[in-house]
Amino acid sequence: MTHRISQIAEYTGQEVELKGWVFNRRGSNKVQFLHLRDGSGFIQCVLGANDGPDELFANVKKLSQESSVVVRGTVKAEARAPYCGHELSITDVELVGDAKEYPISKKAHGDGFLMDNRHLWLRSRKQNLILRVRATIIKAVRDYLDDAGFLLVDSPIFTPNACEGTSTLFETDWFDDRKAYLSQSGQLYQEAAAMAFGKSYCFGPTFRAEKSKTRRHLNEFWMVEPEAAYMDLDGDMDLMEDFMVHVVECVLEKHAEELESVLERDLSALKRVKKPLQRIHYDDAVKMIQDLESKCEDPDLKELLKIEWGADFGSPHETELTKLFDRPIMVYGFPSQIKAFYMKKWPGRPEVSKSVDMLAPEGYGEIIGGGEREENLEMLLSEIKRHELDPKDFEWYLDLRRYGSVPHAGFGLGIERAVAWICGLNHVRETIPFARTLDRLTP
Ligand code: 4AD
Ligand code: MG
Repeated sequence: MTHRISQIAEYTGQEVELKGWVFNRRGSNKVQFLHLRDGSGFIQCVLGANDGPDELFANVKKLSQESSVVVRGTVKAEARAPYCGHELSITDVELVGDAKEYPISKKAHGDGFLMDNRHLWLRSRKQNLILRVRATIIKAVRDYLDDAGFLLVDSPIFTPNACEGTSTLFETDWFDDRKAYLSQSGQLYQEAAAMAFGKSYCFGPTFRAEKSKTRRHLNEFWMVEPEAAYMDLDGDMDLMEDFMVHVVECVLEKHAEELESVLERDLSALKRVKKPLQRIHYDDAVKMIQDLESKCEDPDLKELLKIEWGADFGSPHETELTKLFDRPIMVYGFPSQIKAFYMKKWPGRPEVSKSVDMLAPEGYGEIIGGGEREENLEMLLSEIKRHELDPKDFEWYLDLRRYGSVPHAGFGLGIERAVAWICGLNHVRETIPFARTLDRLTP
């Protein structure tokens, strides 16, 4: 029977067989330390020169980094051992596949080199943990929505129209000279689903042809998008607040120790993510930023912080604004002119939309975008035209306003931005298995 390192504590004192790869090896002619990984964890395996046949010791000494091996031995509790508080006293090692000169050594490599070798880099301890945290976040998101009565309804990826503006559409050939676009967001289809199921969500890849080289942008990213009928902006903010607090709690429950030891994440910042999260009107947020700008002594930053009512936030605005708070905030009521066509107008103030963004602290900025949708047919049609979109492409969407239209709202959480913030990473490219950015399509 093969055991997994993640469960090794249950086998203390027993003989086990582990199938994995040599993560690292060091030692002398007296003792060899084999650091083994099997995908579920890492463990130190020890062999003294006199612990077994000479041939076994000689074979272990020859093992190179990332050679695949089956290791048998006895599990010992050892508080000083690296990784997991246990180590393995080796009784036998079988080489499965040799690894010659593994390109990623223990020395520091540049980001470009590591991304070129992403298919191998995934094996490293940090990258391994990041993707496990990503999986925990995705599970937490889905469990939360499933338990809250949202039905999973998958949105299509090929779409006939834009959702988030025509400037970031990836176009592809469809049949009979037609064009199709890769989905920027599953939202419009969730609005149809919400009218059918009351509460729905999609989770899938989304695409933006943005030529931006920032630490927050990918051209392919994964988004979870809940949508609910009869929900207004306040309900939407209640939902995203409860949802985000839950997600962070799940990650802390499962990964607190590793986040701190492997990624040096400051856990206190995550432990503060409790309700209530502040809700700040855009009008007030702009005043706060203007105030920061007027007091700012760094001339470069001061320039970047200049803002007038009506403008969208850039990342310096988000960063400095969120520094005033110790947990995520929700900024709502953005100007209609900077938001998508489907945003509902503020009653009595059409220049303001019932939109909301959740901004993460510590300089991470926007992780969620959402809001209440325009449910009035005429208003929506005029917005479609004002955004120079073709109403023909939206006929099906307009039907949702023709047949029993109701107030409704939802939001989209970018998984990669959430992973980057929760793990404390400085670039989203490490939060997705294989990043797609302006200058990267391989591996
Ligand atoms: O704010 P966005 O564009 O909102 C929407 O797409 C809505 N239709 C969602 C909805 O209401 N159902 O994107 C939502 C989130 C952002 O807050 C961000 O976390 C992420 O998606 N995101 C990106 N992540 C990585 N790279 C990009 N280029 C991203 N663009 C948006
Ligand atoms: Mg947004």
